[in-house]
Amino acid sequence: MADELARNESKELARLETIIQLGLSTFVEVGNALLRIRDGRLYRASHKTFEEYTQERWGMTRRRANQLIGAAETVGNLGTTVPILPDAERQVRPMAQLAAEQQQAAWDEATRRANGQPTAAIVEQVVRDFNYKRDNKSNRAGDAYVPQGYDACQTPPYAIDPLLPFLPMEWTIWEPACGEGLLVEAFYDADRRCLGTDLLTGQNFFEYAPPEPWHCLVTNPPYSIKYEWLERCYRLGRPFALLLPVETLGASRAQTLFKRHGLEVLFLDRRVNFKMPKKGWEGGGAQFPVAWFTWKLELPDQMYFGTLGNGTTFS
Ligand SMILES: C[S@@+](CC[C@H](N)C(=O)[O-])C[C@H]1O[C@@H](n2cnc3c(N)ncnc32)[C@H](O)[C@@H]1O
Repeated sequence: MADELARNESKELARLETIIQLGLSTFVEVGNALLRIRDGRLYRASHKTFEEYTQERWGMTRRRANQLIGAAETVGNLGTTVPILPDAERQVRPMAQLAAEQQQAAWDEATRRANGQPTAAIVEQVVRDFNYKRDNKSNRAGDAYVPQGYDACQTPPYAIDPLLPFLPMEWTIWEPACGEGLLVEAFYDADRRCLGTDLLTGQNFFEYAPPEPWHCLVTNPPYSIKYEWLERCYRLGRPFALLLPVETLGASRAQTLFKRHGLEVLFLDRRVNFKMPKKGWEGGGAQFPVAWFTWKLELPDQMYFGTLGNGTTFS
C-alpha cells in the first residue's frame, strides 16, 4: 500500500474514526471527521481512494460521505450565533449548494418561515428561492449572456508558464471558462491534455463538470462572480489554479474560504497583458496585478514567486 502514516497521523486517524463510530447520530462531528480524513488523505495507508475507504470501512457511499461533509461545512458557516441550529443532516443538505454567507440568510429565513426548527421541505423551498437570485448572478446557460469588461478578457498563453512545473504531465486539465480557448491551446502546446468548456458553449460551471476524468482545474474566471467561482472550486475538491486579482487576498469573503480550505499563491513578476473585447492586445496590460490562486498543487511555499515567459507575441 502507498504511504505509511506518521505516528501523530495514525493517532489522529484513530481519534477521528472513534468520532465516526460513536457519533453516527451527530452528523456535524461525523462530517468534520470525514472531511479531515479526506483532506489529510489519512486513509492512504489502507486504501487507495477516499471512496474505497468510506465504502469498506463505513459501508458509506462517497455521495453519502460528501453529504455529511457538506452538512458539517454548512453548519460551520451558520456560525455559533444563530438562535436555532439544525438537528438533522437532511435539513442542511439543500443549503450545501448556496454560497457560505447565503446559507446563514437561508437558515434564518427557513426558521422564520417554520417559526422554529424547519422541515427539510421548507429549507428546500427557501433554497429554491435563493437559487433563483443566485442563478441570475452566476450567468445561467440559456440567458442571452454576453460577458462584459474583465469577464470577457482573454489570457495570453505565457501566463501558464510558471504554473506548468506544478501540473504533472499525465494530468488532464479542465479549463471551465475557456472563452476563445487561448489557455486550452497553451496547454496543448505544452503537451498537456486539456478540456475546454464555457457558458458561451452551453456549459455553466455551476451546473456542469466534464464526464471524462480530469485532475485539475485551471482558468481565468469571470471576476464579477469570483467568490462564487472559488466556492465551487473548493466544493469540487480537486486541485485548482485560478488567475485572480491579487487584491482578492484582502476580501473577507475570500479569506473565509482560504482559512477554511487553504490556499497557495503563485505571484507573478509583472502584470499580464490581457486581450480586451474592444482594445484587443493593445490595452497595455491589466490595471491591477494578478496571481495564480492555487489549491493542492503543492507549491514549494505558500507564497511562491514565479516568472512569466517573455510573451513576445502577446505583450
Ligand atoms: C475572463 S474570461 C476568461 C477566458 C479564458 N479563461 C481566458 O483566460 O482566456 C471569463 C470567461 O468565463 C465565461 N463564463 C462566465 N460565466 C460562466 C459560467 N457560469 N460558466 C462557465 N463559463 C462562464 C465567459 O463566457 C468568459 O469566456
